[in-house]
Amino acid sequence: MSNDGVNAGRRRFLVAATSVVGAAGAVGAAVPFVGSWFPSAKAKAAGAPVKVNISKIEPGQQMIAEWRGQPVFIVRRTEEILGNLKKIEGQLSDPKSEFSDQPAYAKNEARSIKPEILLLVGLCTHLGCSPTFRPEVAPVDLGKDWVGGYFCPCHGSHYDLAGRVYKSQPAPLNLPVPPHNYESNDIIVIGLDKENA
Ligand code: FES
Repeated sequence: MSNDGVNAGRRRFLVAATSVVGAAGAVGAAVPFVGSWFPSAKAKAAGAPVKVNISKIEPGQQMIAEWRGQPVFIVRRTEEILGNLKKIEGQLSDPKSEFSDQPAYAKNEARSIKPEILLLVGLCTHLGCSPTFRPEVAPVDLGKDWVGGYFCPCHGSHYDLAGRVYKSQPAPLNLPVPPHNYESNDIIVIGLDKENA
């Protein structure tokens, strides 16, 4: 998650943004339509990129970051997990992610920039519940064929560990992959593509 320095930076930014909103309000009172021509500073802050340190994620484990008020799942996948992605393709609704939402650089077999690191917007594509991370193989409640993935508690949609939805589920699409890039080996910037960094 964000370190203290980043949080301090965010606080400073929010104070600055509040000042800008105040100034825009004063101008808006004199010139009524000026404010609607530009996105507000508050709107920009809500969509601001988020830096996340992923160094503490153990193999096979997940951390959850927040971006634009949404959970972002970040998983460090093992070789075994990556190998299982291929085995279950026949059971998936959109295995090549042709109809699902991801940046061009994540439209590949693993749906990621680096195969071992997965990022997903953690909201079910059915009605927006947050799916539960279930990395275990063959747990009793999910059956002997389960090779790890996500289970949505609201209406039972199943996804694999690339966020790809299984066939015949309430959810119509794979979990989205947010825009992101690597600032360094351990720091990911969510919300900003490399091309636009
Ligand atoms: S919201 Fe996930 S299955 Fe309905």
